[in-house]
Amino acid sequence: MIPISNYFFIFKLSLLSIISETKAAERFLYVNCTNNHVTYTPDSTYAANLDALFASLSSNATNPAGFHNSTAGRGPPDVAYGLFLCRGDISPAACQRCVTFASAQVVQRCPTLKQATIWYDNCMLRYSNKSIFAAPDLTFRGILWKIQDVTNALNFQFVLERLFGDIENRASIDGLGKKFATGEANLSSFQSLYALGQCTPDLTTPECNKCLVKANSDFQSCCASYQGGRVLFPSCNVRYETYPFYNALAAPPPPVVPPPTGLYLRTLETGDSPRKY
Ligand SMILES: *[C@@H]1O[C@H](CO)[C@@H](O)[C@H](O)[C@H]1NC(C)=O
Ligand SMILES: *[C@@H]1O[C@H](CO)[C@@H](O)[C@H](O)[C@H]1NC(C)=O
Ligand SMILES: *[C@@H]1O[C@H](CO)[C@@H](O)[C@H](O)[C@H]1NC(C)=O
Ligand SMILES: *[C@@H]1O[C@H](CO)[C@@H](O)[C@H](O)[C@H]1NC(C)=O
Ligand SMILES: *[C@@H]1O[C@H](CO)[C@@H](O)[C@H](O)[C@H]1NC(C)=O
Repeated sequence: MIPISNYFFIFKLSLLSIISETKAAERFLYVNCTNNHVTYTPDSTYAANLDALFASLSSNATNPAGFHNSTAGRGPPDVAYGLFLCRGDISPAACQRCVTFASAQVVQRCPTLKQATIWYDNCMLRYSNKSIFAAPDLTFRGILWKIQDVTNALNFQFVLERLFGDIENRASIDGLGKKFATGEANLSSFQSLYALGQCTPDLTTPECNKCLVKANSDFQSCCASYQGGRVLFPSCNVRYETYPFYNALAAPPPPVVPPPTGLYLRTLETGDSPRKY
């Protein structure tokens, strides 16, 4: 018999090999190492439960919904609750790569912390020693924006607001196991605006709508004079760009235009030094 700790070791080894292949693909956005004083020790039951939780989440990450919640542990106080949300337009394989990568990274960014939430371009991963399921969480958010001004700010804000009004409605009622919508609008005869909104599908329609409305109102104050922006709540996230950054669900997909380089982002919450978008 192989002792259980060896299984975790093998799991970690396979994680490492996946990470080295996919490192470039996962773009880090934001992390909240919630509640810095709530810690566990590396050889504790909670640590083992967390390993089991990540293994369960990764193995469920090819779920077509792009969402899964898991629990690990026999009972309080060592139960670990976790979930992930993949961006609604990515493949199950890309979702699994992102969730596996995020699981390995979050314990490095938030070592020995019992609760954390981390965002990448393709997925969000959360875990906690408290249940985080089917409950909207709007207690904090990461805000990122592109440091590149728009030319006609008034028109831009108007188009952005209208586009998000539509996305809020469509994303919150989506019934196919995902609460996700994308949309496109003309800024001028030669420039378009592209946007997406997504909630964790365990939210109800009104809960999702409320979260997206709140995220959109952040846009109006933080970002709407810049050419790109994102608001990341644990329960929902929104993003807009002036280039097509998602795969439209309806065929044919828009041409893949590489994002402009050399742009920097600030985050409101952390005061991090500027980072590449
Ligand atoms: C992290 O989340 C907590 C609430 O859970 C919030 O109070 C805190 O401000 C957040 N910190 C950051 C850096 O987002
Ligand atoms: C997932 O969350 C639902 C609530 O949305 C809960 O009823 C269910 O028990 C959770 N599943 C696991 C495996 O924890
Ligand atoms: C997927 O999740 C369920 C419940 O969260 C868990 O029982 C199951 O073991 C996971 N699947 C795999 C293949 O690990
Ligand atoms: C989570 O862990 C903290 C610190 O160990 C503990 O005080 C708290 O009661 C735990 N919460 C639950 C729901 O077990
Ligand atoms: C954008 O403008 C083009 C023509 O300039 C039109 O064909 C298209 O329907 C417009 N798109 C939207 C979303 O309004």
